[in-house]
Amino acid sequence: MPVRIDPSILAADFANLQAEIDRVATADLIHVDVMDNHFVPNLTLGLPVVESLQKVSPLPLDLHLMISDADRWAPVYAETGAFSVTFHAEAAVDAVATAKRLREIGARAGLAVKPGTDIAPYLDLLADFDMLLIMTVEPGFGGQSFMADTMPKLTAAREAVQRSGLDVWLQVDGGISEKTIEIAAAAGADTFVAGSSVFGAENAAAQISLLRELAGK
Ligand code: DX5
Ligand code: ZN
Repeated sequence: MPVRIDPSILAADFANLQAEIDRVATADLIHVDVMDNHFVPNLTLGLPVVESLQKVSPLPLDLHLMISDADRWAPVYAETGAFSVTFHAEAAVDAVATAKRLREIGARAGLAVKPGTDIAPYLDLLADFDMLLIMTVEPGFGGQSFMADTMPKLTAAREAVQRSGLDVWLQVDGGISEKTIEIAAAAGADTFVAGSSVFGAENAAAQISLLRELAGK
């Protein structure tokens, strides 16, 4: 199974985002955390910054929307030309219709669930999504500890994806480092967001290689 390493710029120097993205150019994707201080108790960046990143990033942008009113906003973010747009199940009224809109616009459609949200109801809807994001921390902040008790959801999702024969990516986000990535890989993840463990490393490229190697074991 191919594995993808997806550094989260939440842990980057926001005054030098272009240079920070270049530091992690050996990764597969760039994870961009959009927060609105409403769906989560933190505020990060919005459309103007995403549009600018879109122009300079050598890697595809993987947008993680932690914002309310996802049905309205996810398509607007897709219009920036994003490779992938993930919105939260808890913030959407009609997740399937929103995912359809994202695909029509040309973005991959991702659905995220918080640690306390069951994934089971969405496993019947796999054909409508290109990626499921099982949060491994409460969304809102970088640098938190990996919640191993979310792993059964990942295992269930991996079984459902395998049964379906569909190529739905399974992403984990929060507390992913050289200490935890093997646990998430063993449970079925193939796409690994890593913020502090990559941007906090002196040699980000070496850290990306290490994570990729551990995830692919
Ligand atoms: C948290 C964000 C994450 C965050 C992960 O709500 O969705 O993407 O940047 O940071 P680390 O890898 O430091 O836990
Ligand atoms: Zn994220």
